[in-house]
Amino acid sequence: MPEKFILALDQGTTSSRAILFDKNGHIIQVAQKEFTQLYPHPAWVEHDAEEIWASQFSVLAEVIAKAGITTSEVAAIGITNQRETTVVWDRSTSRPVYNAIVWQDRRTADYCDQLKNEGLTPMLQEKTGLVPDAYFSATKLKWILDHVPGARERAVKGELAFGTIDCWLSWKLTNGKVHVTDVSNASRTMLMNIQTCEWDTDLLKLFDIPASLLPEIIPSSRIYSVTEAIVKNVNIPLAGIAGDQQAALFGQQCTQPGMVKNTYGTGCFLLMHTGEQIVRSANNLLTTVAWKINNRVEYAVEGSIFIGGAIVQWLRDGLYMIRASADIETLATGVSDTNGVYIVPAFAGLGAPHWNQQARGTIFGLTRGTSKAHIARAGLESIAFQVRDVLKAMESDAGMPIKEIRVDGGATINNLLMQFQCNVLQVPVVRPQVYETTALGAAYLAGLGVGYWESIADIQQQWKADKYFYPDKTMEEMEPLIRGWNRAIKASIAWADE
Ligand code: G3P
Repeated sequence: MPEKFILALDQGTTSSRAILFDKNGHIIQVAQKEFTQLYPHPAWVEHDAEEIWASQFSVLAEVIAKAGITTSEVAAIGITNQRETTVVWDRSTSRPVYNAIVWQDRRTADYCDQLKNEGLTPMLQEKTGLVPDAYFSATKLKWILDHVPGARERAVKGELAFGTIDCWLSWKLTNGKVHVTDVSNASRTMLMNIQTCEWDTDLLKLFDIPASLLPEIIPSSRIYSVTEAIVKNVNIPLAGIAGDQQAALFGQQCTQPGMVKNTYGTGCFLLMHTGEQIVRSANNLLTTVAWKINNRVEYAVEGSIFIGGAIVQWLRDGLYMIRASADIETLATGVSDTNGVYIVPAFAGLGAPHWNQQARGTIFGLTRGTSKAHIARAGLESIAFQVRDVLKAMESDAGMPIKEIRVDGGATINNLLMQFQCNVLQVPVVRPQVYETTALGAAYLAGLGVGYWESIADIQQQWKADKYFYPDKTMEEMEPLIRGWNRAIKASIAWADE
């Protein structure tokens, strides 16, 4: 019998990727395609859901062609995706009724502030593990129903479907045969109760969402359908789904309580696995479902940072400071410090642990001596400082210091950033050999779902470190920089709250 492979579809915020893995968890082939970011108003971010599907489908076909295999050699497909991003489509035509409203979109910020002012934060936290913020799907879905002509009436009649991107891709891959979302994605909508893992009728009432719109919530690892849309008569099992951050936690094999990973993507997402226990944060972190495998639901505590690698993209595409993202390391290494410059990259407000929806990006400390190298370096350092803020909140919740962080995502190839990250944290930072951890997590979930891998123990030994970073500066040396960052964050929030 020829060797079979697992195909992971990684639908991220700025690109769609398809990655083929073998039984050892090694990457066989990768295909990637960027797609259009739409900014119709300041602080609004949209995607064309049809373009998402088209780009995802094209990389799927490309990766199979590049690997020189046939679809019958794909044992299963796993999906992982940008979370919270909201799509509503017509069940009969599969046409979206509006662009996908992206997780970064702030149009419902005022409504979320109203929820806070009405004192609903404790109830929302208790039921969903989340805080009222425009980040999550519920208010985006409500916005579509309230603003797209005829949408609410049609939703009530059962003509429309809602889904996050995993759900949309599953629908398209099966030609509309399944309308499902996995429990990790559902936990990011603000409509699911994290205790029961079911849609919550009180929340549907609060946000005025007809239940007929909602997908079925399914486990993260199980055959839930087969493809209908790839090659006629070849039905590849669809067997795994997880939101990208939960998939990365799984791909990093953070499957024991207390293990922590940080993913440097568009944003930065630090997650600590907490086992079957729902841990409530006293420090403004989120409680989220990690995955459901074999009827066992496991949870995580999460610190979500909205702008991570996106600051590098902005320096590249907004300020034309660098030609390729990778050039930032050379530029920033040209200076030994930022010369007192701090960037607070609150382009989409501030997420954990500050949760300020009105904050906006700010640069402090400019002088006539400031060069673009200083700004590039301040951009990189801002990622690391934000991660520090979240890590401190997490340590305080856990009541103990964190021993090690496993890192992944595009920016982890940047050794300057990783070393600086390690220095501000004073915690070892470890980069794994397989850097496509998000896709690997989705592949593992799908592979477990079809029995390609037998158990978590079967895949555990596949995780291997590429490089450990240890502090090469003392806390005393780092403290003045951290103080400067704290002042910058404070000033940025004060500006927003005026
Ligand atoms: O919650 C948003 C997150 O899922 C987006 O991830 O990798 O596209 O930045 P990423």
